[in-house]
Amino acid sequence: MSLLDALARTIGSEHVLTDADVVRGYETDWMGRRLGACLAVVRPGSSDEVAAVLRACADARVPVVPQGGNTGLVGGGVPVGGEVVLSTRRLTGETVVDAEDARVTASAGTTVAQVQAALTPHGLELGIDLASRDSATIGGLVATNAGGLRVPRFGHVRRQLLGLEAVLAEGVRVERLSGLRKDNSGYDLPSLLCGSEGTLGVVTRACLRVWPLASQRVTVVLGLDDLAACVGVVRRLRARLPQLECVEAVFADGVEQAVALGARRVLDRRAPVELLVEAVDRTGRGDTLLHDVLAALEDTAALATAVATDASGRQALWERRERQPEVVVRLGGTALKLDTAVRLGQLPAYELDVRAAVAATDPGARLVLYGHVGDGSLHVNVATDPEHAADVRDAVFDVVRTHGGSLSAEHGIGRDKRQRLDWVRTEGEITVMAAVKRALDPGGILNPQVLLPA
Ligand code: MLT
Ligand code: ZN
Repeated sequence: MSLLDALARTIGSEHVLTDADVVRGYETDWMGRRLGACLAVVRPGSSDEVAAVLRACADARVPVVPQGGNTGLVGGGVPVGGEVVLSTRRLTGETVVDAEDARVTASAGTTVAQVQAALTPHGLELGIDLASRDSATIGGLVATNAGGLRVPRFGHVRRQLLGLEAVLAEGVRVERLSGLRKDNSGYDLPSLLCGSEGTLGVVTRACLRVWPLASQRVTVVLGLDDLAACVGVVRRLRARLPQLECVEAVFADGVEQAVALGARRVLDRRAPVELLVEAVDRTGRGDTLLHDVLAALEDTAALATAVATDASGRQALWERRERQPEVVVRLGGTALKLDTAVRLGQLPAYELDVRAAVAATDPGARLVLYGHVGDGSLHVNVATDPEHAADVRDAVFDVVRTHGGSLSAEHGIGRDKRQRLDWVRTEGEITVMAAVKRALDPGGILNPQVLLPA
């Protein structure tokens, strides 16, 4: 029996998609930068079906690319050629909210926005938020150890993860969903699978911490002279404002391009950098947050300031930042999306070195920087031409390396950066990672083109 017949018998032929028009959306990433060709897209509806699909693919020695909401940015969830794409979008079982123990358990295909909608009536909120919340799925979030906008307060997904259920390459199911806050009983498999980018198993369910819904939110945009000034503000806020939740920066050129796309201008003076900070009170007590934020920002040498305390004002303040990915898509050319981080204090020098390195490698390149500067992280987006793309990327990675940084702050390694993993991880670390991969996926069928160097 052919693999496609076996898959159809296992999960129903209606969930084995091969029609070119239907599968195209699964073969292309959302930025349209890659187009692979898969053998089929399978959409199992339960973890048992995931196990059966993986067993069938392992028997046929056909690689599998797990895919959630297909919002990834490093090619980790799209096929290269001939793989089976395992879409988790039909894994949408019940979302179980445990308000007493402040946790939620959701199936892999549930989107971040759907989990949040289930939490809101309970007065609870996820510690994770990102612009792709309507498409990004819980399984993808865990598989990639996603970052997003609330990392300064809550950390990456790994820090929010209390447990998971996953299916390994040969169909073995591992389940650790007790959600215990204390459980020191051996290797932490949820931590290991979190951030493994679909190379060790398919996450089918996850249990995450939840937090009291915001009772007050204060958002401020400061116009500042440069990134050094931003770092000064971040340090001051870290020390004085425990409610600090988001710290994002957009440079003037990115602001202007977002405004050209329709985003509102909120500062009465143009500034080299806009720094957005947001503080959130989750105690429900008192109304001192605005006072606390303004006190923490006192004496900051801002060129201009805008403050919002309600939803519509907040939306206006976020617009120019949230539209940066769209700005990059419209840059045209070969859009490199590099996602980097250095220690906070290194950021100003790092930024200048990146600009110089890109200009020296391709004087015609257009560079758009923005990102989560509260975490020392900058998204380095470059529109270049195909012949310069690899050199520009390596020039930026070289600067990352010089500054002791990471070439993946939050997007993962994926396919794009696997051949540069050894620029930032030691030989010993990569040897251990490869050994773990062999132990959990001896046939090498799970996302073999991702994360580990060829
Ligand atoms: C963001 O911070 O907006 C996301 O990581 C997506 C992107 O880098 O464009
Ligand atoms: Zn980001």
